[in-house]
Amino acid sequence: MTKANILIVDDLPQNLKLLSELMKGNDYYVRPVTSGKLALLAAKAIPPDLILLDINMPLMDGFETCEKLKSIENTKHIPIIFLSANTEPDAVIKGFELGAVDYITKPFNATEVLIRVKTHLELKFSKETIIKQNHAQQELLHVLCHDLMNSVGAAQAMLNIKKMDEGLSEEDEMMSLAIDNAVDVIGIVHQLRKIDENKMEIELNLSNLKGLVGEMLIILHEKIKQKGIEVIVEIDEEEIVAVESVSFINSILNNLLTNAIKFSFQNGKIIISAKKINDLVHLSVKDFGIGMPEELKVDVFKVEKATTREGTNGELGTGFGMPLVKKFILAYGGKIEIVSHEKSAEGDAHGTEIKLELQTILPEL
Ligand SMILES: Nc1ncnc2c1ncn2[C@@H]1O[C@H](COP(=O)(O)OP(=O)(O)OP(=O)(O)O)[C@@H](O)[C@H]1O
Ligand SMILES: [Mg+2]
Repeated sequence: MTKANILIVDDLPQNLKLLSELMKGNDYYVRPVTSGKLALLAAKAIPPDLILLDINMPLMDGFETCEKLKSIENTKHIPIIFLSANTEPDAVIKGFELGAVDYITKPFNATEVLIRVKTHLELKFSKETIIKQNHAQQELLHVLCHDLMNSVGAAQAMLNIKKMDEGLSEEDEMMSLAIDNAVDVIGIVHQLRKIDENKMEIELNLSNLKGLVGEMLIILHEKIKQKGIEVIVEIDEEEIVAVESVSFINSILNNLLTNAIKFSFQNGKIIISAKKINDLVHLSVKDFGIGMPEELKVDVFKVEKATTREGTNGELGTGFGMPLVKKFILAYGGKIEIVSHEKSAEGDAHGTEIKLELQTILPEL
């Protein structure tokens, strides 16, 4: 392991010497400087692993030096420990508020300084390791999605050609469904990654809620008809919501309504209603189907938990729908809640209601 690199800043040469020898004696690589200005130059040229910063210095004091270091991209992550004879709580608080990780009062105890330095260096190095590992995993996921998409996409294209040339057999149709499902899974993982990395530009616009729901109901018309489901829409003509309409239709309404259909019984009923309370629209998608057991409700928004179940007609899914819904809702500045009662043997009230809170005003830029 390479030696940790420590920048020590103090205007008094005897203090500087004392601290430098202490650090060198413990196998750290040390750069001593006598002013805030020199500290900035040194830190910018080669960012150290940690800075020991005196507060009382002429011209630029430690607070100002810290503030400057925290405002520069490649020095703002360096942990700073203040050193000062000032034990006033106000000074200590100010130090932490400026972003320091610790505050040591003078005259200091050598062992204490060494322990604190070691602790903060370890913290810094473990943070860096976590970031690196996270990066490596993201890269792996990216390669996996990309390469899988190539293979699955090729299979999908071949089936499409066959469909046009000679039509599909029953087995081909089943294979085609499975492949479409795989393409969906890859697409969803891709979207989740983009949201997690904040790369997904969510640009909200004001849209007519009843119009968006209507569009989705047209797309789902066949599925609704097959199950003989009655859909009741109770939304005011002029109700407006602040959402990103493409993801709202394709990811949110599509999944919530598909779930409601999938887990409803034959000839069931779905109620889609909305009411405005203050500046929020409360949208509800309610079904009277099989409901969710408690333990499933807890895990339904977690990507890492498998919650997928077959629908009442054996419909298949990925289990990624709800985590994606939640991410989008949060990105719109909204909320999501589930109220669900599992169908019990006695056959009392059962079903699932998904309640969303949506903004009606665009956020200020
Ligand atoms: N309206 C509902 N009624 C009963 N259970 C539901 C309902 N909505 C969701 N669930 C349960 O939560 C699980 C996860 O839902 P989610 O939408 O995330 O995945 P999925 O529907 O299984 O797959 P996909 O959305 O990819 O088709 C479902 O499989 C089901 O077990
Ligand atoms: Mg679903």
